[in-house]
Amino acid sequence: MDGTDKGFLMKVLGIETSCDETAAAVVTDAREILSNEVLSQLDEHRPYGGVVPEVAARAHLDAIGAIVSTAMEKANLNYSGLDAVAATGGPGLIGGVLVGVMTAKAIASVHKIPFIGVNHLEGHALTVRLTGDDDGKAVKFPYLLLLVSGGHCQLLIVAGAGNYKRLGTTIDDALGEAFDKSAKMMGLGYPGGPAVERYASRGDCDRFDLPRPLWKRAGCNFSFSGLKTKVRQQIENFPPGPMSEQDKNDLCASFQKAAGDVLVDRCANAIDIFLDLHPEGRTLVVAGGVAANLELRRRLTSLANDRDIDFIAPPVHLCTDNAAMIAWAGIERLQLGQTDDMDFRPRPRWPLDPDAPTAAGAGVKA
Ligand code: KG4
Ligand code: ZN
Repeated sequence: MDGTDKGFLMKVLGIETSCDETAAAVVTDAREILSNEVLSQLDEHRPYGGVVPEVAARAHLDAIGAIVSTAMEKANLNYSGLDAVAATGGPGLIGGVLVGVMTAKAIASVHKIPFIGVNHLEGHALTVRLTGDDDGKAVKFPYLLLLVSGGHCQLLIVAGAGNYKRLGTTIDDALGEAFDKSAKMMGLGYPGGPAVERYASRGDCDRFDLPRPLWKRAGCNFSFSGLKTKVRQQIENFPPGPMSEQDKNDLCASFQKAAGDVLVDRCANAIDIFLDLHPEGRTLVVAGGVAANLELRRRLTSLANDRDIDFIAPPVHLCTDNAAMIAWAGIERLQLGQTDDMDFRPRPRWPLDPDAPTAAGAGVKA
């Protein structure tokens, strides 16, 4: 097969630029990842301790051309061998999203292939359909999804591509944000989530008594700002000067345990609702950057075991932002005959379930 031969497979180029990763990937409808390039802008943002939107947009613009070319080369494909090009169309930092969408539209119009504007959250939500269960088998609808990332913390029933029912969301911070802010307060550097997990693995998770917001309350909403505030107060109580390694380890472990308790409690309520609505449902899925956390996966695995359902998570490197998930969501949309016109406009806010009520105080994160 040469680079222009479409063969029997559907092949889609995906582009992801909604936050601080510039990424491009080619994926087939046979669930193969032909290439998956991810360039993290860690060095650009590290001096600021977080993502700076203007810096991100400029860095995406500088990197996108080479990243797309490399993804195509590694997939051994010419543009004419593609069935479509998909780009994250939101939600996210609008400057970055524009770079990805404009690039994808240019490729689509030059090579006369369909363009698909993908919801970034749908990319996370459908990743397990690409990566499969522990035996590599495709994951079937419906499933219950815990979507935990830097900007979102939601429980959703995924009944099909484009068919989402939100059961709960955060009323203040996203969990990844709480990880990142706590890490920053402890001086652990950026990005915070992986650092907190590393320190926590050496710490005593029972040393600090941290709050578990909304624990044992009805419903599936989340709240993390009280937990973050208590971390700050605890840091202020330490003797002046840099925190000791032991204090960092123990505070991270206590934070991670509190976060895990909250996730398990909220997911338990969501499983009840899910099984009520879908008695045939068998699966709890976790996705998004925070799903890379192995301790949180362990907690969710044991909840699923207790409830006699399966627990499925994408491989760690496909939990954080990547373009394979965008290409795959593009394939699912293409299979449903859903493509977008050239007048598609990026959407900084784009809920998966447009009918879900706005959660009090949730702002754009709902
Ligand atoms: O999905 P993602 O890459 O970007 C967004 O769409 O937000 O998620 C990034 C978030 C960050 O807050 C990061 O700190 C968190 O995921 N994260 C983790 C871990 N790896 C990434 N949080 C906890 N433990 C981890 N190992
Ligand atoms: Zn994401």
